[in-house]
Amino acid sequence: MPEISGRGLSVVIVGASGDLARNKIIPALFSLFCQGYLPEPFCIIGLARTAWTDPDFRNQIEPHLTCRYVPDRQCAEKVRDFLGRCYYVSGQYSSVDSYLTLFQRMQQVEQGGPFDRMFYMSVPPFLFLEVARTMGNAGLLACGDQTPWSRVVIEKPFGRDRASSDQLVAGISQIFSEEQTYRIDHYLGKEVIQNLLVLRFANLVFEPIWSSSFIERVRISWKEDIGVGERGGYFNEYGIIRDVIQNHLTQILALVAMEPPASFRSHDVSAAKTDLLKAVRPADLDNWAIGQYDGYLDEPGIPTGSLTPTFAAGVLQIDNARWKGVPFFVDAGKGLDERVTEIRIRFRPTECCRAVEEAAGPLPPNELVIRVQPDELIRLGIVNKVPGLEMKVAQTWLNLAYKSAFQTLIPEAYECLLLDIMQGDRSLFITRGELAASWDIFTPLLHDLEERNVAPAVYAFGTRGAGQTHASTEEQ
Ligand code: BG6
Repeated sequence: MPEISGRGLSVVIVGASGDLARNKIIPALFSLFCQGYLPEPFCIIGLARTAWTDPDFRNQIEPHLTCRYVPDRQCAEKVRDFLGRCYYVSGQYSSVDSYLTLFQRMQQVEQGGPFDRMFYMSVPPFLFLEVARTMGNAGLLACGDQTPWSRVVIEKPFGRDRASSDQLVAGISQIFSEEQTYRIDHYLGKEVIQNLLVLRFANLVFEPIWSSSFIERVRISWKEDIGVGERGGYFNEYGIIRDVIQNHLTQILALVAMEPPASFRSHDVSAAKTDLLKAVRPADLDNWAIGQYDGYLDEPGIPTGSLTPTFAAGVLQIDNARWKGVPFFVDAGKGLDERVTEIRIRFRPTECCRAVEEAAGPLPPNELVIRVQPDELIRLGIVNKVPGLEMKVAQTWLNLAYKSAFQTLIPEAYECLLLDIMQGDRSLFITRGELAASWDIFTPLLHDLEERNVAPAVYAFGTRGAGQTHASTEEQ
């Protein structure tokens, strides 16, 4: 159980009528509440433009609360208790008056002692700075990381390229200190991603073979079988490289490839990640293919003739001693044939077993597959003799499927991240250094695509994407 601060907690969600708040943030807070992880007293105050009252807000939230942590899933009482602590203020994001109203409301509902305050910006990224400045001008924020604390949470994408990201970081830093700022990439809260450090550094068998001497190539792959849906307006501004590759997949790459950190403390882990990201050669358009699913232009909110990619696949090279010459294939796409995120580490073919090869034909290589979702698993492909009188070999899997191995519920990424924010644990959040280094990898590619008006190849919805790059043609 977490340390209880002895203070209350207010969670202010700016943009509370949106999908992220209803589908992710508030359900995650409810799950934490059901498990006893929220301090007492606590309250949630939503701010958004929609003209809702408290009961409207509660009605909107209720269908999204799930009872998965409550015995027998009987949680009507918990739901009632939780909803009774949810309040709503209707206002404009850039109006000081709206924040003053919010502030009054906070004072009314924060009863019984000092309250820590978490400000969650669940608004489109172009509003972050304006909202932060207006909140600052309304005098809502405590300074520094004093107690009771004020912390701000922002969601990727942080900017559109290196320069705009730097501007955003500088702008926010005039209002919130770095210690107060939590930059979320929710993939870092996913169970399997959190396990990467443990898997790599707490098992003696992996570290000695984790280099170009033994690893032939790595693939990090992200697929979604749905389109952009109602998020077309947002997505079209950013595209798949900014939406998924520059953040989610680049963070995975950093965790897979970084040197052992001096400790598992956030500062040391971030230093190791940043060093690795700085060693990644900037992505080069010649090594990338981009695509757009057929029908994207008919989605709501997409302008005629949009060139925004919904698919991208390419290769990254890491210029350091450990990884020299090892290609890291990266691919991400919407409207593909399945929903899966996984890391595949392909080891070099063995040279020691000529005799087996002569008897049984070419040997398949060893491969380590780490599946992040939908079914969390880690499996190692080994070459094994097929039982029988003849010498036949085949790739066989040693399988760690989370569902059968762990008789426990796997927490949602947001549950873990929100709890860390409350506890002031910054390990799973993006630092300025990581952010700058990851934009340096993709900014030249993004600028090239836009300056040259590169048209994405159209692919049929529900297929494997576009472009015959190494990544997309590699066998599964
Ligand atoms: C978000 C992207 O960060 O991640 C979305 O903006 C994407 O486009 C989503 O659909 C996927 O998250 P998850 O947790 O469902 O894999």
